[in-house]
Amino acid sequence: HQLQRPKLLMSLTVTSVRLTGTKYGCGGGGCGACTVMVSRYQPATKTIIHYSANACLLPLCQLHGAAVTTVEGIGSTKTRIHPVQERIAKAHGSQCGFCTPGMVMSMYALLRNKPHPTMEDITQALAGNLCRCTGYRPIVDGCRTFCQEANCCQANGAGDCCLNGEGSTDESEHLFDKEEFLPLDPTQELIFPPELILMAETGNPETLTFCGERMRWVSPASLEELVQLKASNPKAPLVMGNTNIGPDIKFKGVLHPLIISPTRVMELFEVTQTPQGVWVGAGCSLSEVRSLLQKLVPQFPEEKTELFRALIQQLGNLGSQQIRNVASLGGNIMSAYPNSDLNPVLAAGNCKLSVISTGGRREVPLNPDFFVSFGKTILKPEEIVVSVFVPFSRKGEFVRAFRQAPRKESSFATVTTAMRVFFSEGSRVVRDVSIYYGGMGPTTVSATKTCAALVTRPWDDETLSRAYDVLLDELVLPPSAPGGKVEFRRSLTLSFLFKFNLEVLQKLREMVGLQFLSVQDPVGRPIMHRSAISQATGEAVYCDDIPRTDGELFLVLVTSSRAHAKITGLDVSEALRLPGVVDVITAKDIPGKKVRTMFGYHEELLAESEVSCIGQMICAVVADTRAHAKRGAAAVKISYEDLPDPVFTIEEATEKSSFFEPRRVIRRGNVTEAFETVDQLYEGEIRMGGQEHFYMETQSMLVVPVGEETEFKVYVSTQWPTSTQTLDIPSNRVTCHVKRMGGAFGGKVTKTAVLASITSVAAWKTNRAVRCVLERGEDMLITGGRHPILAKYKVGFMNDGRIVAADIEYYTNAGNTVDESVLVEKILLHMDNAYNIPNLQGRAAACRTNLPSNTAFRGFGVPQSIMVVENMVNDVAVVLGRPADQIREINMYKGPSVTHYKFEFSPENMLRCWEECKVKADYSARRRAVDQFNQQNRWKKRGMSIIPIKYGIAFAESFLNQAAALVHIYKDGSVLVTHGGTEMGQGIHTKMQQVASRELRIPPSKIYISETSTNTVPNTCPSAASFGTDANGMAVKNACQTLYQRLEPVRQKDPKGSWESWVNAAFFEKISLSATGFYRGPDLYMDWDKMEGQPYAYFTFGACCCEVELDCLTGDYRTVRTDIVVDIGRSVNPSVDIGQIEGAFMQGLGLYTLEELKFSPSGLLYTRGPSQYKIPAVCDVPLRFNVYLLSDSHNPHAIYSSKGIGEPVLFLGSSVFFAIKDAVAAARAESGLVGPFSLDSPATPERACLACASLFTQKIPASKPGSYKPWALNI
Ligand SMILES: Cc1cc2nc3c(=O)[nH]c(=O)nc-3n(C[C@H](O)[C@H](O)[C@H](O)COP(=O)(O)OP(=O)(O)OC[C@H]3O[C@@H](n4cnc5c(N)ncnc54)[C@H](O)[C@@H]3O)c2cc1C
Ligand code: FES
Ligand code: FES
Repeated sequence: HQLQRPKLLMSLTVTSVRLTGTKYGCGGGGCGACTVMVSRYQPATKTIIHYSANACLLPLCQLHGAAVTTVEGIGSTKTRIHPVQERIAKAHGSQCGFCTPGMVMSMYALLRNKPHPTMEDITQALAGNLCRCTGYRPIVDGCRTFCQEANCCQANGAGDCCLNGEGSTDESEHLFDKEEFLPLDPTQELIFPPELILMAETGNPETLTFCGERMRWVSPASLEELVQLKASNPKAPLVMGNTNIGPDIKFKGVLHPLIISPTRVMELFEVTQTPQGVWVGAGCSLSEVRSLLQKLVPQFPEEKTELFRALIQQLGNLGSQQIRNVASLGGNIMSAYPNSDLNPVLAAGNCKLSVISTGGRREVPLNPDFFVSFGKTILKPEEIVVSVFVPFSRKGEFVRAFRQAPRKESSFATVTTAMRVFFSEGSRVVRDVSIYYGGMGPTTVSATKTCAALVTRPWDDETLSRAYDVLLDELVLPPSAPGGKVEFRRSLTLSFLFKFNLEVLQKLREMVGLQFLSVQDPVGRPIMHRSAISQATGEAVYCDDIPRTDGELFLVLVTSSRAHAKITGLDVSEALRLPGVVDVITAKDIPGKKVRTMFGYHEELLAESEVSCIGQMICAVVADTRAHAKRGAAAVKISYEDLPDPVFTIEEATEKSSFFEPRRVIRRGNVTEAFETVDQLYEGEIRMGGQEHFYMETQSMLVVPVGEETEFKVYVSTQWPTSTQTLDIPSNRVTCHVKRMGGAFGGKVTKTAVLASITSVAAWKTNRAVRCVLERGEDMLITGGRHPILAKYKVGFMNDGRIVAADIEYYTNAGNTVDESVLVEKILLHMDNAYNIPNLQGRAAACRTNLPSNTAFRGFGVPQSIMVVENMVNDVAVVLGRPADQIREINMYKGPSVTHYKFEFSPENMLRCWEECKVKADYSARRRAVDQFNQQNRWKKRGMSIIPIKYGIAFAESFLNQAAALVHIYKDGSVLVTHGGTEMGQGIHTKMQQVASRELRIPPSKIYISETSTNTVPNTCPSAASFGTDANGMAVKNACQTLYQRLEPVRQKDPKGSWESWVNAAFFEKISLSATGFYRGPDLYMDWDKMEGQPYAYFTFGACCCEVELDCLTGDYRTVRTDIVVDIGRSVNPSVDIGQIEGAFMQGLGLYTLEELKFSPSGLLYTRGPSQYKIPAVCDVPLRFNVYLLSDSHNPHAIYSSKGIGEPVLFLGSSVFFAIKDAVAAARAESGLVGPFSLDSPATPERACLACASLFTQKIPASKPGSYKPWALNI
């Protein structure tokens, strides 16, 4: 191999053996899309072990002697699909499908080890696999069918069965039939290759060496050799799991000329038990350590295994299953991460290391001196950790570990801790104590002074109270500390000590609807996503799976490192000299228009003389491989001259009047006069953060010059194929093809068009095929996301709860270009949500800042807009001291209604959703139970909320509502449907197949949809605004009806004939078997001068009730139950629609409670991957999650009486936010704080904890704004 860095399994599967089922979502072990199963033979025990692992981190050299199974290996449509693939697909667990192969492989590896797993096993196995579409429930549902019935409850028998348990009657229960599943037969699984067993048994262990251009990989076979090798190369890292070294090489560009891989040195895997404890080999994986400890715990009295149990607990939450399966114990210790979960426990537990070097063996205690600085320990560079001693605990000794992370699973902790206390026999006097924290500085830190304040003293309130004060002084973080969250982190240190205290005291006490479905008609049936099986087997083709063509080049972008600067120089000479680099594309190379114009603003495709944000594209390097293009990009030299006063925050923008036009105003009634007449006035504000799309498939495209007459084929993952026909080349020569997208959510419209234009310039200039697939970090940096907003409101209301007037100002942070910032209009159109406020005024402006430009994102401003009005209504309820649901009900639209823009509608179904939601959720009884729980618990509080939604469907820009289709019937009777909609997981092709099936009266199996392309259906509109099915469905229907009528004469001639015979006869009678279909769409408009219009075709309604339990000490929360009722008319496909509902709800839950974008003070996005940016994972699914479709609802405005559903439910995720706010209010009441309080979105554990204003958070002095430079901006 020409190694420049260790070749990873991922690159082999994709490029060399073309097994493209293994997907690349992040490259850093954070998303699970690349999960494979590794199997190894262990000669000592003569057993084969199987485990899941991330192919993106697995060095190929490390796999010597191992068997790797990818998704293609377990089943395919050509042979037999595997039961895991079948069940995830048929349970509707695959939408865009990009995560599906990884999910399948995580589950498959689990089943190879445990054919009848428990629910806990399943949720653990899937914890490291992210899905942005489904909301996880259907995936878990499919996997749950492998559980034995007795095991199937995630709530462990605690009453409510986890996902659809006892008493639940929600719709999703009826969406698939378990009886039709293939049984799992473990005897049919692939066998481990016998030649590998033979090799392991008989092979001569000798040193393996792999050499490359810039590095060497050596794997010694004995400890002696390892010691010698390390002695002569002390700087060379030992690579075990590669989970630390791998990301460093990949993301930080660290180069190691030599890597030592000790995975074949048996001594590093030995386990020895002694009367004092157990020595565990440093090479053991974290999963092996956990299993070992789990096996040992029941063999000893409880008092001896305190430390073992604390370790088991931390190991269960550390990283994901895939990471734990490869990451080693020694690797975790020696990585010396500041927030390692293990090191505080090992250190608090008095563990020690056995280390070896040419100087001999020695034992090193894990004590306060062990961790020297970031990533450094006191061990000498040539020393190797052979094993770790984990002692038994003694009578009177207690060990506990706690962690608080942005997400419960698969997330580094914000603060992590372990505490051990040892009491003199029969007394409460502390004999010994140790406390270590992670996340409070550059290393694991010991709270030595706090320990000193506890030792030799009785464990009582007085001692503890002093200990809190000492701890507060001891663990200080500067206000600008890296990682931010300073107040929160400091208060967590106190909260954890308090939690420990509670447990110790306890110990001391001990010591001293579905709709009617017709059988034949496919419409209205829960038909599986038509590509689900191909997605589950890994056969589904995404843009980057298209095989490389001859001479193909790869494009990597070079982006600005300054937020606002003049470009004074661009030197590409060094890049051009590097191997493989073919060209560097700059703005000068663009043959046609160098800008894209939106709303009168020009946006440069590539910056030429000035940059206005970090991440703005300046040029692009094209080379023969991605690696060469990356090296080339790193060699491009750009010099800048900074321009003064960059604008980052909304406040800075408003101060400097930095806005994009148009700014909009809407008004009904007269707020000023009305404010004079009301009983009470209240003014408040709310800030809501942005959101990253985090589609699992990053922006991907391939542009292929055909070779004649400037004809191009563009394969691109886009929601809007027509928009990529650019470059001033006539559109009839550029054919854009979209097979499917691995998720889009609004992020693959305008941004993709710019990227595709740049890639096209490269293809045009080099006359070669050019591929561009963004790395996750680049995608997050460059493409922007949902607009953050700041809203200020003044509301006037009567003492009986009626809101009479509201005046609301909205400011969005648009970033450096206008892009889709027109969404300010949609903000104003939805500012009323469900409420009839007679005097209502709204003003909205998009702030121009020096941050990457934001764009469309599912809901297009509505999730921000409705959040504001719901928060305002909530405040009114708090001021009046009344339940929020009552104030909501009082103010809802009732009877024939008119919105503030004079649109007439009936809110009847909205009110029905609301009432039904209250009934299904058993709202009143549970509300009482929540209040009772709160009276009985001091540190845990429950909260509940119920939220309505009214969401307008279709585009106010009338021309965007049109759609077209082209349907061919072939002589053999098969039918090919094409339409203008693109498949991004939302199931549009499945629904179109159902429409064609109904109209042509043939089974869906005869109908195929190959792709969306501009040469079959030109001038497409974007698949957006929840209008794709409405518009394209009508066009497909139109085309099919034309064809059906054309066949009428042949049918009449041969009424008993078959579809095939009629088609055949029609051909011979020269009847055209192709037809186009067209749908004009409703004529919608909005007149902003008159402030009135008809901007929507109709409304989709819904309501959602959520209950949460909040740990007031840490801000940690769990969604206990969610009930959603949605009015989607008569669903065309309930399983697809429920998938949209659950997926959107979970995305909303992420938006309002979890996902946080962080920017540095100079405008650099910190959160550029799944390790820093947390989207919901399987652990975030509500413990009980019920979805109901409103019955007897009809919609005359859309196909088959259905309703658009892609976007509306996202907002209902805010119900979790308001439930958290309710719980926080209960906590504040205990501290004597009543009245409205501010809680910004997302309500992360940090915000919730600080808002609780507990004893401990109040102890932390807030730093004075302006007195320091914060680590992150509040944009
Ligand atoms: C996505 C992701 C999530 C994670 N989440 C968490 C988390 O929540 N909590 C947490 O604590 N950690 C977490 N980690 C970190 C992970 O646990 C560590 O990276 C891992 O334990 C390191 O072990 P490794 O075998 O992969 O180390 P490698 O990357 O192989 O090596 C790491 C370092 O350790 C040294 N080393 C390894 N073995 C020895 C030895 N025997 N003697 C001397 N030096 C040695 C190497 O020289 C190297 O410098 C996460 C990592 C990833 C990628
Ligand atoms: S691509 Fe490997 S975990 Fe994301
Ligand atoms: S189906 Fe899971 S990411 Fe799309």
